[in-house]
Amino acid sequence: HFSTTPSAQREIQSVIVVGAGLMGAGIAQVAAQAQLNVTMVDLSPDQLQKGRDIIAASVRRVAKKKFPDDEGKQSEYVDRTWSFIETGTKAEAVVAGADLVVEAIVENIDTKQKLFMSLDAAAPKHTIFTSNTSSLPIAEIAKVTSEDRQARFAGLHFFNPVPAMKLVEIVKTDKVDTETYQSLVDVTNRIGKTSVACKDTPGFIVNRLLVPYMMESLRIVERGEASLEDIDVAMKLGAGFPMGPIELSDVSKVCLPVNFVGLDTLKSIVEGWAREGKVEPAFVKPVKQLTDLVAKGHFGRKTGKGFYEYV
Ligand code: CAA
Ligand code: NAD
Repeated sequence: HFSTTPSAQREIQSVIVVGAGLMGAGIAQVAAQAQLNVTMVDLSPDQLQKGRDIIAASVRRVAKKKFPDDEGKQSEYVDRTWSFIETGTKAEAVVAGADLVVEAIVENIDTKQKLFMSLDAAAPKHTIFTSNTSSLPIAEIAKVTSEDRQARFAGLHFFNPVPAMKLVEIVKTDKVDTETYQSLVDVTNRIGKTSVACKDTPGFIVNRLLVPYMMESLRIVERGEASLEDIDVAMKLGAGFPMGPIELSDVSKVCLPVNFVGLDTLKSIVEGWAREGKVEPAFVKPVKQLTDLVAKGHFGRKTGKGFYEYV
């Protein structure tokens, strides 16, 4: 199942995805669709089952779209995708065969560092480590691994919903080497995504622009200049965005009725940026209604109420 080529720039064939939540399941799915050998890891069989359920619903949708009039081909495609996915509950136990690790676990620096520290000891020299973090500096996560590993440690930032969003940001720390970067460009192409490169900076490219845009939309409401609904309609029909900014901040985890992140996450990203002091201060000015909603536990779609109400 695993590649055994000795070269340092070997083609990535086997991938461990750690975290079978919304993002990890999506990443495992698109890698398996591209016929990479995937092992999806989470803490318990129950969590793994949740990941499998996310994949099952999405891969059926992809198959239907690919072969609209042929149920036989649809189920062949679904079965073939599953044949590239194994699961496990101990990343250290399976990392020996991995060319690439993609970490998509909870957004907590200590938990991520602990995972990578133990993986570093167990993984072969050539294995590339990546994190899908949205808001933590890659170098901070990577610093608990050896110097050699830090040359093979980058950000690999996917977007939600992974099977539909075509972009991957490859985040380059000061230590990452050119071969690693090139391997990541190759593998993202093979899984059907377009990659862009970015330095290890707050929000990388997309969130650096998206978060201030969402915050400014809330300030328009705060100043009483337009309604929530009109702002969402305006940006969809006037700027061609698929979702309006408030819809997007309320939901944050688009498209899935589980564990939405929402307003609490938006607020914590902005507060983190304000503390780091690297982002234009006007972009991270607090918005009172956001602070109030979060204080009351109204985090958006996951709690049934945010700027909008969800039934
Ligand atoms: N699995 C498989 N395919 C999916 C899918 C899923 N879960 N969700 C959507 N799709 C596919 C559909 O099959 C459809 O494909 P075609 O156009 O080829 O037919 C396509 O995506 C569009 O889906 P729909 O027609 O059902 O719905 P839509 O046109 O309303 O699009 C959407 C849905 C793609 C989510 C769109 O609303 C969108 O792009 N929204 C914005 C999402 C966004 O901004 N995401 C980034 C959030 S920021 C982030 O992720 C980074 C971070 O760090 C927090
Ligand atoms: P999620 O809560 O849906 O999934 C996280 C999964 O990780 C859970 O299943 C949890 O059981 C598992 N997990 C936690 N600790 C673990 C450990 N030590 N070992 C193995 N598994 C562990 O979260 P998500 O939305 O998929 O986000 C995952 C990562 O992706 C985060 O770093 C987040 O910032 C990033 N991200 C999220 C989005 C988004 O829109 N949700 C977009 C891009 C990036």
